[in-house]
Amino acid sequence: MQDDLQERLDSLKWWQKTIVYEVYPKSFLDTAGNGTGTIAGIVQKLDYLASLGVGAIWITPIYRSPMKDNGYDVADYYALDPSFGTMDDMDELIAEAKKRNIRIVMDLVMNHTSDENAWFVESSSSKDNPKSDWYIWRDAKDDGSAPNNWRGIFGGPAWTWDETRQQYYLHTFADFQPDLNWECAEMRQELYRMARFWLDKGVGGFRIDAVTYIKKPEVFCDGTPDPMDGLFPIHDATANTEGILDLLQEFKAEVMDGTDAFAVAEANGVVPEELVNWVGNHGVFDMLFEFGHILVPQGGNENWYESDDWKLTQLKAALSASQRATRTNGWYPIYFENHDQARSVSMFLPDVSNKIAGAKMLATVLMTLRGTPFVYQGQELGYENVAWPAIDMYNDVSSHNQYKMALQAGKTEEEALAAVHAHSRDNARTPMQWDASENAGFTSATPWLPVHDDYATCNVMVEHGDKGSVLWWYRTLAKLRIELPILVVGDYTELMCEREDLYAFSRGCGAAQAVVIANFREAEVSYEAQLVQDMDLAISTHGDATPGVLRPLEAVVYLSRE
Ligand code: NOJ
Repeated sequence: MQDDLQERLDSLKWWQKTIVYEVYPKSFLDTAGNGTGTIAGIVQKLDYLASLGVGAIWITPIYRSPMKDNGYDVADYYALDPSFGTMDDMDELIAEAKKRNIRIVMDLVMNHTSDENAWFVESSSSKDNPKSDWYIWRDAKDDGSAPNNWRGIFGGPAWTWDETRQQYYLHTFADFQPDLNWECAEMRQELYRMARFWLDKGVGGFRIDAVTYIKKPEVFCDGTPDPMDGLFPIHDATANTEGILDLLQEFKAEVMDGTDAFAVAEANGVVPEELVNWVGNHGVFDMLFEFGHILVPQGGNENWYESDDWKLTQLKAALSASQRATRTNGWYPIYFENHDQARSVSMFLPDVSNKIAGAKMLATVLMTLRGTPFVYQGQELGYENVAWPAIDMYNDVSSHNQYKMALQAGKTEEEALAAVHAHSRDNARTPMQWDASENAGFTSATPWLPVHDDYATCNVMVEHGDKGSVLWWYRTLAKLRIELPILVVGDYTELMCEREDLYAFSRGCGAAQAVVIANFREAEVSYEAQLVQDMDLAISTHGDATPGVLRPLEAVVYLSRE
């Protein structure tokens, strides 16, 4: 290997050289026969995850919770929800994963708790209890109405009246998710203590939930009312409030510094140009999920029913912006899916009929951009969206609110449901499909959410036996990243930026270069063969390849000669 490639590789931390897999535990594998997944289920599938080249598993919240937002409503940060298992199960998971060189990553929900959390119960009990300012309380206006007109992210007012305390509390998300008051130093210290508790258990990192909302402005002003409901989106009032980075520097110093664990933040509202303040040498996190590319198919709209047409050039520009922003400082978590998004083949390739080819093409892009790829459960099988016939079949709290808002805005029930089909978070939350048996091998009971109709053909067992499957392709790409370090360390340059049919970029380091070209169309497209002149084909989704031509949905990686 070239010296400079080796040097760059040696300078990376463990989490920069691996693949992270996101597990939505409720839907992963049920070993208890209750219809919901368990920690023991994750232990059982560690070898499967190792076969995907995974070095870290991010598990969405498994703390004790009423589960109204599937764990993002934490009732006790120090206890596991009994539906998932016990602390012994967790210790076993951490230990068994370690044997396979895999680290467990916990989801830290620090913007809010459940209203059933003992902290909130105490805080709401009076105006002068020891935790009275651990949450954000305000008096009613003279007429008894809420302190201002902010709308929560899941819809409806962001303030809820508490009878006992005779005050309103603020919630960025649902009314059962009261926001913690980060101005309270004692509360912050308790959060840091909690995070250290999990590090002491041996976890390898944190995904930090909804981080952009932790700091609130000093004055809570009304925003311009939306004619639909008279409310103003809380995101526009509180995201990235000045001073937030000081709070997060404290988190970094108190929790992360001196450990080899990584912190990746979910930070809606941070734009690529701002990443320099958030990640890397001057920042507070190791990586940050920004939303630029994922919002493109939503036309950048908060309301699902407003989704608009979009162009590939917009998607490419969004991806390139974050690649550029982390070129010399910080690192990027590459993701096309997570538990809050529709499935990527449905979202990015809605009109494509050959979804398997589409999923392989997208996988090639995901695994060859610069950064750490995050693969979400089922993505490696090529999952598509579901389209259930009635809103009642949906579990996701935001799907119900979005449906209501669409009706309020004058959409028909059919249109409102179509928006839910396209964007519902339940698209990502249907049970993992392990085999073709009843309930896809996920559970012996009735699954908490219906299994996707396609489970007989789209499942781990079938795809494991089919070398043309999406699963095989993910495994192939994982090996390729190890064989070709240029894909890990090479600088990113977008090529043919204006093209609406293909996405091309190079990864370079000194004389070494890789060129990736992906055809987003279900038709043959051509490009200047010169681009890959004197290069060797490293891989093609279609086996072989002809320079200058891409078959429908083909993706290729070419490599410069030594
Ligand atoms: C972002 C999480 O990813 C999502 O699932 C959750 O509903 C909200 N934050 C609230 O915690």
